[in-house]
Order: sequence, then structure tokens, then C-alpha cells
Amino acid sequence: MSLELEAGRRWRVVTGDTLELLPTLPDGSVDAVVCDPPYAIGIENRHWDGAAIRDHACQHHGQVSPGRAFELWTTAWAGELHRILKPGGHVVAFGATRTVHRLTCGLEEGGLEIRDMLMWMFGPGIPKSRRLPHGQATTLKPFYEPIVLARRPLDAGSTTANVERHGTGALNVEAASIRHADEPEVVRWPPHVVASHSTRCRPRRCAAGCGVGEVERQRPGASRFMYITKVRRRERDAGCEHLPARQLRHFPTTINATQRPRHNPHPTVKPIDLMRWLIGLTTPADGLVLDPFCGSGTTGVGAVLEGRRFLGLEREPDYGQIARARIAHWEQVGDE
Ligand SMILES: C[S@@+](CC[C@H](N)C(=O)[O-])C[C@H]1O[C@@H](n2cnc3c(N)ncnc32)[C@H](O)[C@@H]1O
Ligand SMILES: [Zn+2]
Repeated sequence: MSLELEAGRRWRVVTGDTLELLPTLPDGSVDAVVCDPPYAIGIENRHWDGAAIRDHACQHHGQVSPGRAFELWTTAWAGELHRILKPGGHVVAFGATRTVHRLTCGLEEGGLEIRDMLMWMFGPGIPKSRRLPHGQATTLKPFYEPIVLARRPLDAGSTTANVERHGTGALNVEAASIRHADEPEVVRWPPHVVASHSTRCRPRRCAAGCGVGEVERQRPGASRFMYITKVRRRERDAGCEHLPARQLRHFPTTINATQRPRHNPHPTVKPIDLMRWLIGLTTPADGLVLDPFCGSGTTGVGAVLEGRRFLGLEREPDYGQIARARIAHWEQVGDE
């Protein structure tokens, strides 16, 4: 099967295993990879976030520790990304604080060079631990997610020569620069910290407990970050209204029985504006963005809204269907 986009098509989501699909893509055909791979922390006890990764490593390398299995599995797909990216093409990959060291080493072992480690600060999340007797627990409250920025090494001597030859190798810092409504004349170099407001915040009025609001209160004018709002229900479900609604369960210990079912019940949906910013930063104008773990398709939504082409790979047919519905919706309505 050819995975290339047919003439006239701007995007495509293919159902299947990334490790089987990536080898069918041509060398040097992708401008950037923006993805949110499994974190290997057993989200919702899903097979794809645990056993599938360990099974793959076991099959190819025998018995190894879970951490090493995640690294070896990452190396397998990172090596393919290295081949199908243009020289200088960037990779953006979200990680979890507990396993990002293995993700980073796996990307490096696959031949990519590590360029930076971004931090997406979303304010206090839900601790993934139940309370134990005597005031004890096993985890802290999550406040941020790391994002690895890597790159296929350049093939022309200088960055400028590489950009001239392939269009890739540099970051679009001007397009991704930071401007605030309060001081529109000031253009700031994009930092490697992105912060999210709480979904309860309103323009210029932060809700109690919002991490961004807290930073501003402690250090007024600290607006050197990118501010992006967390995913609201409307954003998550838009375009999926015709699909069946199902219960969202993030973690077995944090089921909220009163929560209403959702048309997009994917457990790890990313904010569209965050994906747009990362795509705008790393992908040349009209370039092809690949997401080898596309989930409910947020990278694809970001790509069509940023005028880039998109190829998404996703193993679960239900998620693939949701991704197609969401991308088609946002392509039609554009910027709201
Ligand atoms: C962390 S989620 C991505 C969520 C996405 N960023 C979104 O906003 O909806 C990772 C996705 O990778 C998929 N996945 C895991 N292993 C895979 C594989 N080997 N091939 C293809 N997809 C895979 C899972 O089904 C899951 O939907
Ligand atoms: Zn806020």
C-alpha cells in the first residue's frame, strides 16, 4: 500500500501499526514529525501503552527491563523517522516525566540529534495515586510535560545551505514569536516553555488554581511564555457529534462518575493551539507533517489550520475515525 497523499489531497489518516507502516514511506519525503507517542506508563491499562511495547522489545531483544524495552521500541521507529525525514527535518515528541529519558535516548539511538527539551506547563493536574493510610501517597501532582525536540542531522555543511537545499533545518522563530495584547509592539523570541491556562480562565481573568495566573501574581510581567488554554469539551468533540458518545476514564483511580460521556473519549487529547504552535515552529510553509501516533488527530487539526499537509498513522480504528472527523471539521470551519 502506498501511503503518499493522492494529488489534491491535503491530509490522510491511515489505520495500522506504525512499525509496519513507516517502512513503506519513501526516503526524505517528510518535512517534520510532530507526535505524542505512548509514554509507557500504562495509561488506563491500555495495551498500546504497556504490553505492546514490552512484547515488541521481547520479540527482537529477549528479556529486558520495561525502561529498556521502551527505549528499544523508540529506537525502532526513530530509525525509520531518520530515513523518511528530509535532512534537517525536525521531530517534536511529547514524553512523560518518568520515561522521557528513555524516549530521548531512543530518538538519539535512532540517528536523530537532540536539540532541546521543551516544557508544557499546564498547571496542577490530578495526582495518579490513591491516598494511603497515615497521609501517604506515591506520586506528586503533575504540573508539566516534557517535549523532546530532535532533528535529522544536516547533510549540507551549513544550516543555511541545508535550508536552501531541502527547506528544512531551521526553526521558524519569527512565525512562532510571542506577542501579548498588552504590548503588541514587543515581539519576543519563542521560549522553550509553553504554559496553559485552566479551562475556567477568562481573557485577562485567571481562575483560582491556574498555574499561569500564579506565575503572573508572583512575578508580574513574567509573560515570556506562550499561553495556551487546556482542551475544553467543545474543542475535543467538535466534528465528532455523529459518532457514539462514550465515557472518558483517564486513570482507574480518578474516575469521575458524574462526567458526561464524550464523542471523542481519547484519554490524552492535546490542545489544538499547542500543536499549531509546534507545527508553525518546526515545519516549512506547505510542508508535510507526519504524526506516527495520531490518536484523535490533534496534530492533523493543527496542520490543516496552519496550512501544512498531514499524514497520520493510528493503530486503533475508532481513534482513526475520530481523527478523520475532527480534521475534516476544522478544515471546513478554519480559524473560528
Ligand atoms: C498519546 S496518544 C496520542 C494522542 C493525540 N496527541 C491526540 O491529541 O489525540 C498515542 C496514540 O498512539 C497510538 N499507538 C500506540 N502504539 C501504536 C502503534 N504501534 N502504531 C500506531 N499507533 C499506535 C495509540 O492508539 C494512541 O491513540
Ligand atoms: Zn489562567
